[in-house]
Amino acid sequence: MASLRQWRFAVVFLLLQVLGAQQKPTRYALPTQPPGHDAILVGTAWYPEQWPESRWEEDLRLMEAANIKVVRVAEFAWSTMEPSEGKYDFDWLKRAIALAAKHNIVTVLGTPTAAPPAWLTSKYPDTLRVDENGRRATHGNRAQASPSSPKYRELCRRIAEQMAIRFGHTPSVVGWQIDNEYGYAQMSYDAGTRQKFQDWLKAKYKTLANLNNQWTTAYWSQTYDSWSEIPIPVGGHNPGLMLDWKRFVTHEYDGYQRDQIEVIRKNSDPRQFITTNFMGWFDGYDHYILSQALTFPSWDDYVGSGHVDADNNGLTHDLTRGFKRSNFWVMETQPGAVNWHAVNNFLNKGEVRAMAWQAIAHGADEVGYWQWRSALNGQEEYHGTLLGPDGTPVPFYEEVSQIGHEFSAAQDAFRGTTVTSQVALLNSYDSRWAIQFQKHTQKYDYVAVLKSYYKPLHQLAQSVDVISPDAPLAQYKLVVAPALNVIPKDIADHLLEYVRNGGHLVLGPRSGMKNQYNGLLPQRQPGYLVDALGGRVEQYYALEKDFPVSGDWGSGDTSVWAERLGTSSSDAQVLMRYGKSNGWLDDQPAAITRPYGKGRITYIGALLDDKLMAAAAEWMVKDSGVTPVFGSVQDGIEVSRRSGDGKDVLVFINFAQENRSVALPHPMKCLLKDAACNQLDLPAYGVEVVVEQK
Ligand code: GAL
Repeated sequence: MASLRQWRFAVVFLLLQVLGAQQKPTRYALPTQPPGHDAILVGTAWYPEQWPESRWEEDLRLMEAANIKVVRVAEFAWSTMEPSEGKYDFDWLKRAIALAAKHNIVTVLGTPTAAPPAWLTSKYPDTLRVDENGRRATHGNRAQASPSSPKYRELCRRIAEQMAIRFGHTPSVVGWQIDNEYGYAQMSYDAGTRQKFQDWLKAKYKTLANLNNQWTTAYWSQTYDSWSEIPIPVGGHNPGLMLDWKRFVTHEYDGYQRDQIEVIRKNSDPRQFITTNFMGWFDGYDHYILSQALTFPSWDDYVGSGHVDADNNGLTHDLTRGFKRSNFWVMETQPGAVNWHAVNNFLNKGEVRAMAWQAIAHGADEVGYWQWRSALNGQEEYHGTLLGPDGTPVPFYEEVSQIGHEFSAAQDAFRGTTVTSQVALLNSYDSRWAIQFQKHTQKYDYVAVLKSYYKPLHQLAQSVDVISPDAPLAQYKLVVAPALNVIPKDIADHLLEYVRNGGHLVLGPRSGMKNQYNGLLPQRQPGYLVDALGGRVEQYYALEKDFPVSGDWGSGDTSVWAERLGTSSSDAQVLMRYGKSNGWLDDQPAAITRPYGKGRITYIGALLDDKLMAAAAEWMVKDSGVTPVFGSVQDGIEVSRRSGDGKDVLVFINFAQENRSVALPHPMKCLLKDAACNQLDLPAYGVEVVVEQK
């Protein structure tokens, strides 16, 4: 029989359950959408420390008028926040944050560790990076400190901690940005870093015999007899050593960010997010690993020269969304022009607005303009801004103001929504690095290969996730690995499980060649997947010119890379064959496919031209039962969907340079027009956001 205590416990438990059910938030909260604020936001990088305080109010008034709702501040303000060691001055920052809040602007605080103050680098010169030639960096630029320096790490931790103690509970501080673009992954080649690398290798390999074996150091007499003999690679080194160095760089930046994250977390409200601003396809470190410690990733979206390439930009948004399989922020983007490219042309009128909406459409919840106003002196005087040196708006301010007002008008439709896709593209830093160390042909470009698959697949499916090969795959109807060069056993098992359960896995050239130590797999490509594929790569060829290829997907060319495939299983089917080429490839299989488990594996050994790639994508999509987000649209129109919290919102953007129209399946609500609509007429860079009518 239950005792009275047990009864009481049961009643309280039941009550809590009922109350809990009632208190369940009605809205699905995303950490990228700060509670109590608009779901999608426009922001700007503001540097109050560069201006007299009497000016701040006017800045914020102008921001508020443009519906700018976020400022990111302080990420280069170390010398103002800590003018001498251990002497802090945060009062000015407190006043700036409070004044911004008065203008309905929330703050993201950047930790200032990308730009150490002069007192620090003079007092502790060992914190400065040493380059490959033994030269120590000097003061006056940024990212000149070593992320491996214990002293630098201690000083970074201290300033981050002091900031968190001051602002970790400030209601209008919604989050933190750690550092800025993580030093472009520039490592120091000093003795301390080398020692740390050797210790890291020791922890990984345990014995030198193991390391020597995995790196095959008998080759060129590289055999190590002591950990201290192992160098930092500077290029042309052993592929195993080079790949481990990249992983060590990732490890060091992860430690560097975690030091700061730890003290911020300890001293801040859990509602404050922690992010950092990555740089798209930059490959200095493994972004999947670094993203783990962050609430969500952000990136800095700069076009540089020329004009926005919608596929490139969409792909990079999707890449960033895949770092943590979450929404993200575009922490910085260009207000028209940058100052660091070959030709710093201004983007066309309306182009920046199209980019802003593209970011939202692909899963961003904030778009921040770098920067509000140029400092009157400093390295970036020529960069695009929203105000001129006189402190009044430049013509471009109008476009941001339009974006700000549109975001406010449409924001509620995006609350709790995110992007979901039926197609995933696998991206791996290990594979990218492994290929880059030994390209075999300078013409091979890892990102261009990914893009050649992304473009037609995105056109057909209208939504593609870019994810790490170890991410969960069950939700996808089609998983494409355009260049998965490194496939260790555990990843092979993960991929096979996906296929066994009914998925379609498509592998591109160079797949499954290497193990986790960057050593060759003895099975030949695709390594552990050979048996399931019922075929393999017999030989690979770097091409000096295009060769013909034809079959189920039509006729066309292969360029840069071609692999001669062979089948070993009677149910492996040849989809494409090479035509007359170098003799070795003539009439040999270029693409094969085989049912496996409840699914299918396909291997494409050639880099196909655009037309063949489009046909191949059509075949993949059809075979896998992938359905588009919306349906067919005219060339140049990008359509995307965000859903969640019982909502579905479509974003249409016209990236063509002429007018385009879209017929909607039934009358819907156009949020930017603020009217019912059944057809969209979009000029160049035109945008519309569409939801079902209530
Ligand atoms: C970014 C950087 C900013 C600014 C900007 C100029 O990479 O984070 O601080 O320099 O470039 O385009």
